[in-house]
Amino acid sequence: MTPTTTIPILEGDGIGPEIWAASRLVFDAALQRHLPNQRVEWRTVPAGQRAFDTTGDYLPTVTIDAIRQHKVALKGPLTTPVGEGFRSINVTLRKTFDLYACVRPVTWFDGVPSPVRHPERVDMVIFRENTEDIYAGIEWAYDSTEAQTIRDTITTLNGSLNVPFPSTTGFGIKPISKDGSKRLMRAAIDFAIARSRRSVTIVHKGNIMKFTEGAFRNWCYEVAIEEYSDRVFTWKTYEQISRLEGATAARSALDAATADGKLIIKDHICDAFFQDSLLCPENFDVVATTNLNGDYISDALAAQVGGIGLSPGANINTATGYGIFEATHGTAPSIAGRNIANPSAMILSGALLFDHLGWHHASTAITSALSDTLRARESTVDINPDNPIGTTEFAQALVRRITAAS
Ligand code: NAI
Repeated sequence: MTPTTTIPILEGDGIGPEIWAASRLVFDAALQRHLPNQRVEWRTVPAGQRAFDTTGDYLPTVTIDAIRQHKVALKGPLTTPVGEGFRSINVTLRKTFDLYACVRPVTWFDGVPSPVRHPERVDMVIFRENTEDIYAGIEWAYDSTEAQTIRDTITTLNGSLNVPFPSTTGFGIKPISKDGSKRLMRAAIDFAIARSRRSVTIVHKGNIMKFTEGAFRNWCYEVAIEEYSDRVFTWKTYEQISRLEGATAARSALDAATADGKLIIKDHICDAFFQDSLLCPENFDVVATTNLNGDYISDALAAQVGGIGLSPGANINTATGYGIFEATHGTAPSIAGRNIANPSAMILSGALLFDHLGWHHASTAITSALSDTLRARESTVDINPDNPIGTTEFAQALVRRITAAS
């Protein structure tokens, strides 16, 4: 009997339904071509504004249950209602399934306009910690009783509050744990080793925030040294050799480790990373970073390779196997329903999902078809304003290439 895999789909709001319809053409073609014995049931489940309008709930239980049952889902963009006290649906999903790693590959495709001179040098995969940091939502308004408690507590612990405007200061807490940092780093190293990537760079602001960002850096190095010592060469080892035997010996050790195919583990202060990833992106490969840094870095790097219309993402828990794969852009309401949205981010997110499920040939077929189509300058208006094709026509161009490929 043909095995069936059910994949829940959260189509999303705005351009969500149309980019999903286009993406599905591509996914079905790749599966038919490369996994003819695998039946996939795409099961649409409600979420977002459309779900709220029909059920009164932005994230109905039926959707949570479907993801729990099938472990994976593909998600379109969801409207985040602006209002006091409402938590983002995306954040709720990440928390519910403890999707601690947000994985975002950033690669340039030939034919895509870029604001930098050498976008072909950008080939990175960002591992952003997804559950901690200032994103945890532990914060209090300046005029709340909790803020006063925080003022009193800090004054007791510190001797003074040490802020310029005490009575008008709101507070947010930045939790970063050893366990959370280590599991993120493990996921990044495992990925890098499995894909034969060259390096993992820990990006942090530890020079200023010593017990959160600085601790993150130290714990990441600890994982590398204690759990992967035979497969990695760390910058800490480099510094140690340099101190004891001199810079030439350290350089030779680094060269030998690189020649041996060892994974290089290094770190970079976040602000310097923004500069250096623009000036010399080829120095960076896999990046492991905290939640807020990762948020900024993802969009900045996406801009280098053509913008958010082309940026896929995966929110995963490598221990449980749960994964929600999503285009990283929003609902783009001003272009919804016009067959002009770029479906590439959702298509590439589907390719990541296929990889996660072990369907590597189908995944590669999708990425290759996308690459060839963009190289042929067949693309939507955001990429090709002078001679654009529509959302559906773009998907059909990919389908033709997938079907024709030998
Ligand atoms: P947005 O990403 O929807 O739009 C920013 C700009 O990029 C707009 O000019 C838009 O037309 C363009 N754009 C986005 N995706 C595109 C695509 N696939 N093809 C061509 N052009 C594209 O961000 P914005 O305007 O800040 O947010 C709109 C709504 O989306 C808000 O409700 C926001 O909360 C939600 N949102 C949801 C996200 C998610 O579900 N992952 C992520 C970001 C925003």
